[in-house]
Amino acid sequence: MKGYGARTYGDRIAGVYDELYGTLFDVDATVTLLAELGGGGPALELGIGTGRIALPLEDRGVDVTGIDASEAMVAELRAKPREDDIPVVMGDFADVDIEGRFKLVFVVFNTLFNLATQDEQVRCFTNVTKHLTEDGVFLVEAFVPDMTRYTRHQTTGVDRLDSESVHLEASRHDPVNQTVDSQHIHLRRGEPVEMYPVSIRYAYPSELDLMARLAGLRLRARWGGWHKEPFTSESKFHVSVYEHA
Ligand SMILES: C[S@@+](CC[C@H](N)C(=O)[O-])C[C@H]1O[C@@H](n2cnc3c(N)ncnc32)[C@H](O)[C@@H]1O
Repeated sequence: MKGYGARTYGDRIAGVYDELYGTLFDVDATVTLLAELGGGGPALELGIGTGRIALPLEDRGVDVTGIDASEAMVAELRAKPREDDIPVVMGDFADVDIEGRFKLVFVVFNTLFNLATQDEQVRCFTNVTKHLTEDGVFLVEAFVPDMTRYTRHQTTGVDRLDSESVHLEASRHDPVNQTVDSQHIHLRRGEPVEMYPVSIRYAYPSELDLMARLAGLRLRARWGGWHKEPFTSESKFHVSVYEHA
């Protein structure tokens, strides 16, 4: 998308991110599984954002470090009162430009797909591998691509609607590059239009497994949800756990 970079999504959505997504998903189940896999070792979150997951994970006794490209998202995290600050490295998580090794590296809520190309995603897997302890795992939560969303490579739809406002989505799909450029358009009576852009490059679970293999990892487990539901052809998203091959 013209004018779009690694920081754009976060910089634009930071002010409303928690309101939109803070309680939309099962944070408790997410954090329970992450704490189980983290096994007391340090954890690294790629695209930590406002700390939606990192903060409750810290509350379970896991030391979390984050990487993010958006100062605005991290400012939202910092605005939440805490005794200890979570360390956050500003930068592109494809580089994983950080000291140390982690028992758990995780990237949730489709954030891996924020990396705009296959090359960047492969680079991310490779760099994550270098930062895993010997028994460390890399967890990826992402949607299963669904081509039925698109008609003539486009989709528009209503995300939310009430008597005063409507949230619309307008997306264009490029099936060759596996990218989707979207605007989330928020209309509220009497207020200016707000637009939140997001550009992703999606991958099927099998392609992620191949990226993992290129990086020297292998799939340990794949679930269809945070409660370890079976992953089936009906699953809308997956929670995948990779370990050293
Ligand atoms: C969908 S949000 C997820 C935030 C948090 N992980 C959560 O689950 O609520 C994606 C986050 O990744 C960050 N991000 C996107 N692309 C990035 C990149 N290439 N490098 C670092 N951070 C990136 C955004 O700034 C944003 O904070």
